[in-house]
Amino acid sequence: MAFTYFFRDTHTLEKSIEQFVPFVIGYQNIYIWDAGCASGQEAYSLAMLCAEHMGYFAFKNLQIDATDIDASNLFADIIRRGLYPSDQVQRIPPYYHQKYFTGNEKGDHYGIDSKLCKHVRFYKHDLLSLQPIRTNYSLIVCKNVLLHFNEMERRKIMALFYQCLRSGGFLAMEQTQKMIHGFEDKFTLVATDAQLYRKIDTVDNSMVISDCKTTSAYY
Ligand SMILES: C[S@@+](CC[C@H](N)C(=O)[O-])C[C@H]1O[C@@H](n2cnc3c(N)ncnc32)[C@H](O)[C@@H]1O
Repeated sequence: MAFTYFFRDTHTLEKSIEQFVPFVIGYQNIYIWDAGCASGQEAYSLAMLCAEHMGYFAFKNLQIDATDIDASNLFADIIRRGLYPSDQVQRIPPYYHQKYFTGNEKGDHYGIDSKLCKHVRFYKHDLLSLQPIRTNYSLIVCKNVLLHFNEMERRKIMALFYQCLRSGGFLAMEQTQKMIHGFEDKFTLVATDAQLYRKIDTVDNSMVISDCKTTSAYY
């Protein structure tokens, strides 16, 4: 099972939502991509932060695409059901725990509020396919994933992210992941204390990946 937990690196997630919310207000279709989401804790943490900060009407328009290669074929079911063992919800701040989780009768599992679940869709997806689920993302979160790839693969994935982001969209990575070499003029750092970047629009055909097809691999 991949290592992850709810509200991991809360600081970066909060900074991302802080920048993202004013950027998306007024849009009818608002998309976040959580790339390399493991068993969904990060995607649901983002959903909770969005529910708190976007306001009712904007939140209604939000969809989070949570993707992972899911080598163990376990994640789809976990994310869809939004059901987690009680030891995995211990780190959740009490406010969020009380508001968005319901314990089962035995008390050994907690379910995420269905109002959040319906905003998170899981797709089994290999980043190295370089085929995005969609374009037009306002925020891409890709944390603790790029370290799995070599330098050439990272560059290709970064080109994919660049293409999939809306003009001015945001990209969040983990604290230790600096911008990939060759992309310094395509993203600008927007936080002094988090790896949160904003897309700079440039016209450069060498960065354009092949066909952007919407995949039907939805679980
Ligand atoms: C350490 S987890 C990160 C989970 C979460 N983003 C976080 O920061 O807590 C790394 C994830 O990357 C996924 N991953 C590895 N190679 C991948 C690939 N080629 N395409 C998509 N996901 C991949 C793994 O399956 C794993 O779930």
